[in-house]
Amino acid sequence: MSVPHSPASPSGSADLTAFEPSVRSWVRERLSPLRFTHTEGVVETVTRLAAYHRIAEVPALRLAGWIHDAAREYRADDLLVEARRLSLPVRPVEAQSPRLLHGAVALGLAREVFGLDHPVVTSAVLYHTTGHPDMSRADKVFYLADLVEPSRTFAWIDQARALAEADLDTALLFSITRQLRRLLKKPAVIDTRAVELRNRLLAEGTPLTPRDVS
Ligand SMILES: [Fe+2]
Ligand SMILES: [Fe+2]
Repeated sequence: MSVPHSPASPSGSADLTAFEPSVRSWVRERLSPLRFTHTEGVVETVTRLAAYHRIAEVPALRLAGWIHDAAREYRADDLLVEARRLSLPVRPVEAQSPRLLHGAVALGLAREVFGLDHPVVTSAVLYHTTGHPDMSRADKVFYLADLVEPSRTFAWIDQARALAEADLDTALLFSITRQLRRLLKKPAVIDTRAVELRNRLLAEGTPLTPRDVS
């Protein structure tokens, strides 16, 4: 399928929906079958969770779903090269761990190919890897959809799925806490955005689940 080049930047929901088939095809060509299955799962899950949490920006979140991992299979060096070519800002933690750039690069490529420049798509994609202290409710739903879509399997998935359908902030605090614990056991770089998000959720009185307090 051909993709549009340099179309007018979409603004309304109807415009965004019209972009979906082209963006889906573009992404399919860029990902392994396994990663594409994950991507389809994110689109399906974000649609369901957004309806459940009464978030209106479903067309933008579905587009974010298609786009978010489009550069996930790039090598670290290529992510840095693409980030430079697309004139993206690269923070020190991203230079140290270029995989953190995969959302920003995917967004930059989608902007280049489709002319897509929409604030809801942008923040959902940019914050899907680490979270961010200023996440919107739409961003939070997107982050959780990426984590709990049907093809995901990890030890605490059932609890994360249940919380994602109960309370966004509790689900997010639970998930960030578990992910930080996992990273601390490895020689992995930690993006302070995740820590700042956790601090903010705690400051707002979001409860930790009992097992995370002990
Ligand atoms: Fe990702
Ligand atoms: Fe993902």
